[in-house]
Amino acid sequence: MSDLNYIKKEFEEKFVKINSKNDLQNLKSEYFGKNGIVSSEFKKMGSLDENHRKDFAKKLNLLKDDLTNLIENKFKLIEKEEINQKLVDEKIDITLPIRSQASGKIHPVSQVIDEISSIFSEIGFTVAEGPDVESEYNNFTALNTPENHPARDMHDTFYLDANKKTLLRTHTSPVQIRTMLNGKPPFKIIVPGRTYRCDSDQTHAPMFHQLEGLHIDKNITMAHLKGCLNYFIKEFFEVKNIKMRFRPSHFPFTEPSAEVDIGYKLEDNKIVIGEGNKWLEILGCGMVHPNVLRNAKVNSKQFQGYAFGMGIDRLAMLKYGINDLRAFFETDYRWLNHYGFDPLDVPTNYRGLSR
Ligand code: DAH
Repeated sequence: MSDLNYIKKEFEEKFVKINSKNDLQNLKSEYFGKNGIVSSEFKKMGSLDENHRKDFAKKLNLLKDDLTNLIENKFKLIEKEEINQKLVDEKIDITLPIRSQASGKIHPVSQVIDEISSIFSEIGFTVAEGPDVESEYNNFTALNTPENHPARDMHDTFYLDANKKTLLRTHTSPVQIRTMLNGKPPFKIIVPGRTYRCDSDQTHAPMFHQLEGLHIDKNITMAHLKGCLNYFIKEFFEVKNIKMRFRPSHFPFTEPSAEVDIGYKLEDNKIVIGEGNKWLEILGCGMVHPNVLRNAKVNSKQFQGYAFGMGIDRLAMLKYGINDLRAFFETDYRWLNHYGFDPLDVPTNYRGLSR
């Protein structure tokens, strides 16, 4: 019969030196594996006479429980220490500033929408939105453009059904109708969004972006419109002076209507905005037609105002010297890396709009 006390003592000597899960596992196998020291003792039991066997079995089971407890507890302890060590090693100081190597870029169109929103919010405009899939009524009829009106042909419309009742909106102007029908005057909104026309070349894409503006209140005049656009263009192009002219034009939803040109010159093949004697058309505007107000359930005797609409992509091209509109929508990563903006550089009027 082996000396169980000796086995235990020997185990304890080895046990105290152990401090890894791996060594502990090996020790466990040495004692409890198939031919382990303790397992072998159990095998010997069969050859003992009955008197000794009972006594030995009792002691051996006690030894087994003792040693397995020691192993189990040590296992838990090591595991806990490992987790604590990991927490120390992998500690992240979240108060450290982020490294400026963020790899994503903001698309120039998104950047320009943020810039424009920031500029208009300074003078009390809020941002409204509407769906890309629009009814023929909101897109045309309610905007004083009845069926067979020649202005409908100017927009190469994508119709979505045979009856021409739903379409992809050809401009952001239908959001004027939606906003007025859903609220009470006064209204002072801008509407950035996607618009669609069946057209594609260097300066036209079948999907493009527009920004609509609408200001309806008592006693709003053309002078307010001029002041508003003058402020906007100066802020947007980040110049002190701007040459601007209103050219008489026609839109069914405004009366009178105008197109706005800004002065520019070419220097080393680059456009310089605000100076020079060339003119560039950048938006359409006018005083909202009483028929539009009526269709939108606004009392046109009490309320009046102005509206304007401009191409966002075109403004982005002008401001950032991009000459092909189609590149905006080609999702070429190299292009975006070149023309895109740092995601952490949010444009505000106070901090500066572009860098
Ligand atoms: N909706 C016009 C277009 O797409 C642009 C426009 C012109 C909008 C005059 C207006 C406006 O709100 O008053 O060509």
